[in-house]
Amino acid sequence: MDLLTTSAFLILCIVISSSLGNGDGQKTFNVVDFGAIGDGKTDDSDAFSKAWTDFCSATGDSATLEIPANKRFLLKSTTFRGPCKSNSVHIQVSGNIVAPDSKSWKQCESQCWLSLYDVQGLSIDGSGTIDGNGHGWWNQGEDGCNRPKAVYFHNCNNLQVKGITIVNSPKSHISINTCNGVSVSNIHIDSPEDSPNTDGIDISFSTQVNILDSSIKSGDDCVAINGGSSNINITGVACGPGHGISVGSLGLDGADDKVEEVHVRNCNFTGTQNGARIKTSPGGSGYARRISFEHIRLIASKNPIIIDQHYCGGGGGCKGTSAVNVSEVTYSDVRGSSADEKAITFGCSEEGCFGIKMEQVSITSSVPGKETIAYCQNAHGTSSSTSPHCRGDCIQWLPKPYIRAIDWLFDLSTSCAPRQGRASSVP
Ligand SMILES: *[C@@H]1O[C@H](CO)[C@@H](O)[C@H](O)[C@H]1NC(C)=O
Ligand SMILES: *[C@@H]1O[C@H](CO)[C@@H](O)[C@H](O)[C@H]1NC(C)=O
Ligand SMILES: *[C@@H]1O[C@H](CO)[C@@H](O)[C@H](O)[C@H]1NC(C)=O
Repeated sequence: MDLLTTSAFLILCIVISSSLGNGDGQKTFNVVDFGAIGDGKTDDSDAFSKAWTDFCSATGDSATLEIPANKRFLLKSTTFRGPCKSNSVHIQVSGNIVAPDSKSWKQCESQCWLSLYDVQGLSIDGSGTIDGNGHGWWNQGEDGCNRPKAVYFHNCNNLQVKGITIVNSPKSHISINTCNGVSVSNIHIDSPEDSPNTDGIDISFSTQVNILDSSIKSGDDCVAINGGSSNINITGVACGPGHGISVGSLGLDGADDKVEEVHVRNCNFTGTQNGARIKTSPGGSGYARRISFEHIRLIASKNPIIIDQHYCGGGGGCKGTSAVNVSEVTYSDVRGSSADEKAITFGCSEEGCFGIKMEQVSITSSVPGKETIAYCQNAHGTSSSTSPHCRGDCIQWLPKPYIRAIDWLFDLSTSCAPRQGRASSVP
């Protein structure tokens, strides 16, 4: 080749390789290049679906779906399906995404707004906001039609969600269903305290899940761990307003639910309706075991520590007398204030809860001059340095004969179910 041909060839090579993306098999798909407008009014769903198709079928090391900043993309109910071809798939959420208002949804169109199915190794990050536009839904009844969940992941293994904000979901903000290996970190969830059923993060049938360093304000559970889930760590979450971090409901409508290895650490509850909660329904079966709440701070939470084995959902969910077996539950270094007199509630079924361990628990009243109490029914275990403490035969903070003697000395009563112990009377 002479010089001219050689340089023309080189230029051609450069043009070809740059048109393939950023080199190294990395490819970027910007939704704007597929016709998305991002003015908050135009329906951009088709453009997103087209971008998704190309993004998901791109081969190579990594593919990025880019949702650019300073725009607001209106999307109706959309499903993004895998499996995708690239080794690593990344959604960059720099701009905002908004749902149509409740009136423009076709009735019962879908139970979810944005669904991601069967995408392996997906990472989502960015500083954009996903807005579920839930206001119109919150005060209307369900009418046999469910309010949609905002972001729903199903069978997405090795999933990472980082940095994004999700607000005003009609129902739960993030649902993680049948996913193995999930990390959710540095996210913000924000819905009003009085918005119904707006769980922050729902986890079901999933394992190896880490929820880290996030703030969750909602009208329902900040995080709910449902049946079929195990190895769940929730660390550094600021919850409130909201209904706490809950295992359950389990066993609703006679379900056989199993949850184990749930560890909640370094979490704060501020003005929440519950703190560390386990709720199960009579008539269910299965278990909730190896659960711990450690280094928990509470500010004016109602029901800071609660096990409720008499939970019936809307009322009709209790179908019999069997119980989900609750055991090996540890509360360690749980401190702060309760907005209710009842700081600790162990409302266990007739069969009882086993292996409840309490250490370094101290919950005072957020109302000056008031004391807190512990209510205890059929709970078995041990406690040390715990105030208010359970008395009677329930949680043993000393061998039983001593407890009986102390109870007898203090109020000449030894029966247990239900019994209350007063924080101020701890000898
Ligand atoms: C949860 O924490 C425990 C203890 O630190 C650790 O052994 C386990 O691997 C963690 N689980 C996940 C899913 O990261
Ligand atoms: C919880 O509150 C303490 C102060 O009491 C603060 O140091 C810590 O960062 C808070 N943690 C979270 C996850 O908000
Ligand atoms: C509940 O779990 C405990 C602890 O694992 C076990 O000892 C007990 O037998 C179980 N109860 C039932 C009814 O299965």
